[in-house]
Amino acid sequence: MSFSRRNFLRSASVLAALSVAEMQSLAASAQIADAGKDVRNDDEEFWRNVRLMFPLSKDLTYLNNGTFGPSPYPVIEAVKAGMMESDMNGQYGSWENTVAKVAKFVRANENEIALTHNVTEGINIGCWGLPLQKGDEVIITTHEHMGNAMPWMNRQKVHGIVVKTYTPASTADETLNRINSLITKKTRAIATPHIPCTQGQVLPAKEICTLARDKSIFSVIDGAHGPGMIPLDLHDMGCDTYASCSHKWMLGPKGTGFLYVRKDFQNTLQSYTIGAGGDNGKWDLLSKPMATTSDYVDSAHRYYGGTQSNGLYAGVVAAIDFIETIGANNIYERIKFLGKYTQDGLLSFGDKVELLTPTEERSRAGVNGFRVKGIDFQKFYGMCSEKKMRIRAVPENGLNSLRVSTHIYNNTHEVDLLMEIVKKAVS
Ligand SMILES: Cc1ncc(COP(=O)(O)O)c(C=O)c1O
Repeated sequence: MSFSRRNFLRSASVLAALSVAEMQSLAASAQIADAGKDVRNDDEEFWRNVRLMFPLSKDLTYLNNGTFGPSPYPVIEAVKAGMMESDMNGQYGSWENTVAKVAKFVRANENEIALTHNVTEGINIGCWGLPLQKGDEVIITTHEHMGNAMPWMNRQKVHGIVVKTYTPASTADETLNRINSLITKKTRAIATPHIPCTQGQVLPAKEICTLARDKSIFSVIDGAHGPGMIPLDLHDMGCDTYASCSHKWMLGPKGTGFLYVRKDFQNTLQSYTIGAGGDNGKWDLLSKPMATTSDYVDSAHRYYGGTQSNGLYAGVVAAIDFIETIGANNIYERIKFLGKYTQDGLLSFGDKVELLTPTEERSRAGVNGFRVKGIDFQKFYGMCSEKKMRIRAVPENGLNSLRVSTHIYNNTHEVDLLMEIVKKAVS
């Protein structure tokens, strides 16, 4: 369902059934659709209309998009409609449309996208499919989400690979130096996040992939926080795989994801999770066993199979429509604006607050990590909860810090509310 005035202004009977919030959303959607593509990142009125498109509670300050992004009404409607289609009409559904839409959104080819249910699933497909042997080295960060740590640690346990770590630096150049200095003759893969979950700095993914390719190392990227925050061109990035989801910055249904596998890499990345649609159609149980890589389908469909949810994947299409109606670049600029507004607020407390996310232009976007001096991070988290503000505590690897992530449904007032809590905490 495309997100436009035409689609929202339906029959009077449908309108009559809408709640007040949905009516407001409808009015807001018309204004957003009319605004065209030229939106200022500080046009608070425009972005207030965007907020009305979300059923998010008015009294909730949700600064935790890094965990999951709430969906706007058009996405929820599309999920319902997709489910109704199956449940009323007995339609099994098909997901080619979603694959095509996702591929275009991340500037990949349709035959390079496998549907998954979350980032972790995509990372596991990439991790276990790599041709690695005992002693082969894989580089990850000390700032991993368990979804990009456990698969590699598990492979270390099962196959004896060696996992090495680097800590992301405060500049992109220094991060590249740190990765470079870990590379040895045994390094087979760099399995880094595009944007780590802890402090949200944007790592130089393209340069990392170039470095990997130049040294014949696999680049398998954890892209949990890329799409929907940053306009992506995966061919330009040059990664071998990119595992992501629609339920964070794309604002899609929870439990939907995708894995990009570069076309030329598909005969290197072994498929283990496979089912209907994964073979080239010539295989049969009686006479012809699968024997060579050409027995697989000539696409990333070799990495997934089985029944999928018609409704959820219709929701993914609607989420991309929603993003494109507002404009992926407009969204990126707004996210960067709010991210910088947050950084400026935190920096204004001087040495009472430690900003952990780089201020370097290319290394920041919508996520910021910080510590409030003299206050336990869990206590600060509790102070936010008391004010109905949702942020993320970051206990991972002893970081004991806090994380806020701001998306298009947020505004400067909500960031100001956070600063009031910081002010109270430090005084
Ligand atoms: C950087 C990163 N990688 C992986 C994951 C796991 O994502 P999912 O729950 O979709 O598997 C997350 C989730 O927050 C994350 O932030």
